[in-house]
Amino acid sequence: MSRVVDDDSASQLLKRVGDARKEATGDETPVHHTLNMSPETRALPFVLSFLEDFFSRTKTLLNDICGEARDGEVMAVLGASGSGKSTLIDALANRIARGSLKGKVTLNGEPLESRLLKVISAYVMQDDLLFPMLTVEETLMFAAEFRLPRTLSKSKKQARVQQLIDQLGLRNAAKTIIGDEGHRGVSGGERRRVSIGIDIIHDPIILFLDEPTSGLDSTSAYMVVKVLQRIAQSGSIVIMSIHQPSYRIMGLLDRLLFLSKGQTVFSGTPSDLPGYFGEFGAPIPENENKTEFALDLIRELEGSQGGAKALVEFHKGWQIKHKSNLHNIEGAPQDSRGGLSLKEAISASISRGKLVSGATNTDASPASMVPTFANPCWNEIVTLSKRSVMNSRRMPELFGIRLGAVLVTGFILATMFWQLDNSLRVYKND
Ligand SMILES: Nc1ncnc2c1ncn2[C@@H]1O[C@H](COP(=O)(O)OP(=O)(O)OP(=O)(O)O)[C@@H](O)[C@H]1O
Ligand SMILES: [Mg+2]
Repeated sequence: MSRVVDDDSASQLLKRVGDARKEATGDETPVHHTLNMSPETRALPFVLSFLEDFFSRTKTLLNDICGEARDGEVMAVLGASGSGKSTLIDALANRIARGSLKGKVTLNGEPLESRLLKVISAYVMQDDLLFPMLTVEETLMFAAEFRLPRTLSKSKKQARVQQLIDQLGLRNAAKTIIGDEGHRGVSGGERRRVSIGIDIIHDPIILFLDEPTSGLDSTSAYMVVKVLQRIAQSGSIVIMSIHQPSYRIMGLLDRLLFLSKGQTVFSGTPSDLPGYFGEFGAPIPENENKTEFALDLIRELEGSQGGAKALVEFHKGWQIKHKSNLHNIEGAPQDSRGGLSLKEAISASISRGKLVSGATNTDASPASMVPTFANPCWNEIVTLSKRSVMNSRRMPELFGIRLGAVLVTGFILATMFWQLDNSLRVYKND
């Protein structure tokens, strides 16, 4: 399952990312060039591994799932509805109650503390919860003020927003309002990219997304995944769940994990799929979408008497045979992390411009290298209030209706206590 990365292409990629950043921000600080490209530190410094059984106390939702995601790559979790995709993403993102999960999630072979994970990762929800009357640029700017530290100058925040607008392919829509049912605004695909932008404003190392393409047409979905590929190539691990990716989207995915009723039925690269199903005895016909065929086959097996158990068992054997099972990696952790400890990898990332959080303390433990909260509470309240006021000012009719409703309710309540007698008589019924 491990992917051999060509030295030249990896260094060219890093250079391209650095050049793009310089163009976008005018920032001359060395980014990826600073990374020593010696065999130990080249290419993929981050490896997120997960092992063993994840399960809930009362009902097993995920069982015996293992896999590995590397930076620079997009990993997709696929499966029918109810197969456990969201549960797996939530489990990896530490959004499931503590104690209800068994198993292990490691980053570069080291256990991942929840505090550290919170700081270095981002989780993009399926719904777009945005203020309709703010423009794309304003929305991202408020996110920058909220998520990036106060110590970072306004011009640097603006530069980050502009860089992000280019990265998300939102240049043409930058001055357009988000919109809602009553106001025309950006398209659905653009809105989804704005939602992603808000969560990646601090340039996280790990990005989790639950069905980022659902509800989008194939072109918008392709553009969203293309953006995710660009984010991955800037040095992040991207893990997402997706329903039936199109042929073109498949070309952007580096690793696939197919689930059936909480169990792995395939994990590997898209190019492994034909060989895998061929060996299983169900070769993928030519000119057929590989994922659609695989999902249909899994659904068929689930409906049959033995369920998808045969495929689960076949997958176990196949992984051992192809020496790509995570258990092998566990036996050789040095290989999986490319020689970089978690601390070294995080400081290398920070020096390349990731985790825009003003973190400088590289001597400390990984958890204390980056602050948990970028800003104090009062600062967050001021930013959120400003955003709310700006949104309301642009929708005076809605503001008027809400104010009217509050005044009428207040008036009704006030009349109940109007000119009340102070004597004890009011407490008696007579
Ligand atoms: N708290 C819970 N108690 C019992 N069962 C649960 C609980 N939460 C989730 N499940 C079950 O776990 C299974 C996996 O749910 P999950 O949301 O991960 O599916 P999914 O693959 O994301 O589906 P979809 O594609 O529809 O989003 C479902 O069958 C669901 O009913
Ligand atoms: Mg889901």
